[in-house]
Amino acid sequence: MEIERILLRQEQLQTRIRELGAVLSADYAGKTPIFIGVLKGAVHFFTDLMLHYPHPCQYDFIGASSYGDGTQTSGQVRLTKDVMTDLRDRHVVIVEDILDTGLTLRFVTDWLRSKHPASLKLCVLLDKPERRRADISADYIGFTIPNEFVVGYGLDYQELYRNLPYIGVLKP
Ligand code: IMP
Repeated sequence: MEIERILLRQEQLQTRIRELGAVLSADYAGKTPIFIGVLKGAVHFFTDLMLHYPHPCQYDFIGASSYGDGTQTSGQVRLTKDVMTDLRDRHVVIVEDILDTGLTLRFVTDWLRSKHPASLKLCVLLDKPERRRADISADYIGFTIPNEFVVGYGLDYQELYRNLPYIGVLKP
């Protein structure tokens, strides 16, 4: 295993996700929001978060990937899957694993905003503000982390490690 150390244990993740679910529940009660998970990295965060949202809501998914599969984004983002729901006049919450340079989420939010939702908010499990290159910030943040490449709980390195139940720092 190429994991140098564990950054966030399974229990820490679950405790914080329960808190985020409670905040979203208070903010969106009575609104039937659409939660949009960004594939593939957000899968575990999305499903765990949704189990802590007890009110009526809908799910959809969008796929985006930045070219290149090392630990650096190329900056060029492309859509691999669009949403299936009509978002016009709906309350939309994008659910993503990590906000790093922000280039991916800048692209995804611009794309979804063009569908004229009533509101559009961003919920990320991890925020790495040191690396930001795009003008974007999240409305809901699980953890702010230092500038290290992390894997696990959905996050990958060359498509591996997504199935780790914790978030760890990869050996350089
Ligand atoms: P961006 O740099 O904010 O555009 O992030 C784009 C994507 O890069 C994220 O959705 C992740 O899939 C991936 N990414 C960014 N930082 C990490 C990391 O530390 N580990 C694994 N994937 C990352």
